[in-house]
Amino acid sequence: MAEMLNIDLTDEQKYFYRQNGFLSIPRITTGEEIDWLKTIYDKVFADRTGEEKGFFYDLAGPRGHDGRNELPQALGPDISIPELRESIYYKNAKRLSSQLLTLDQEVHVGGHMIYKPAKYGAETPWHQDEAYWDPEVFSNGLSVWMPLDSVMKESGCMQFIPGSHKGDVKWHRHIDDNPLVHGLVTDDVDPSEAIACPLPAGGATFHHTRTLHYTAPNTTDNPRRAYILVCSGPEEKRDKPAYRPWQDEERQAMKAAKIDVEYL
Ligand code: NI
Repeated sequence: MAEMLNIDLTDEQKYFYRQNGFLSIPRITTGEEIDWLKTIYDKVFADRTGEEKGFFYDLAGPRGHDGRNELPQALGPDISIPELRESIYYKNAKRLSSQLLTLDQEVHVGGHMIYKPAKYGAETPWHQDEAYWDPEVFSNGLSVWMPLDSVMKESGCMQFIPGSHKGDVKWHRHIDDNPLVHGLVTDDVDPSEAIACPLPAGGATFHHTRTLHYTAPNTTDNPRRAYILVCSGPEEKRDKPAYRPWQDEERQAMKAAKIDVEYL
């Protein structure tokens, strides 16, 4: 993957992101790289890479269930496949994120993949990413979301509530009110305000850590493969931790169920 695809954001795009908390661009990598990434992606999900460490699980189902996975997620695929860090996608995500975060130092990048199988992939309900994150700090980050397949509402493209990044983290609960389900949902949202961002394969959206977002169930005949990179600048420690009891509920439920994972 020696080639590069140079993309820059215009001032209008940066302004749009600041105002709305999200941005959609039609291309962040090449078609050739998408083909290469699809091979890696399919192997990660076929092998359930990292499952023994708790890095692979169904976001929409209770931990450890042995039924059909409707929203499988693989965390940190670049830990076992470091070549991913050399990809055009990774490099562009890092560079464009530092522009949107207005940072002059290196951004830290973490990655995950969320797969919505054709016909039965579950919805990712409304949430803010920061609800999952460390309550001890003010986060300073954004997520870059790239589909490996063209996406529309019906297959699970991203949908955002414009301007929602300007508020605080809302009350969240676990999907099905089951703390063994990692996925979170907030009820404090008006879905009629949502803006959907259909994209071609290799396009991308960027969203702020607090932007409310959603993806619909995949009711199409095509898979929806998404590869997300979370890019962050330095975090600022809070005087006292934010109140996010859903995180403790999950830890306690995992302990009671004797499910031990390296990452939660
Ligand atoms: Ni999210």
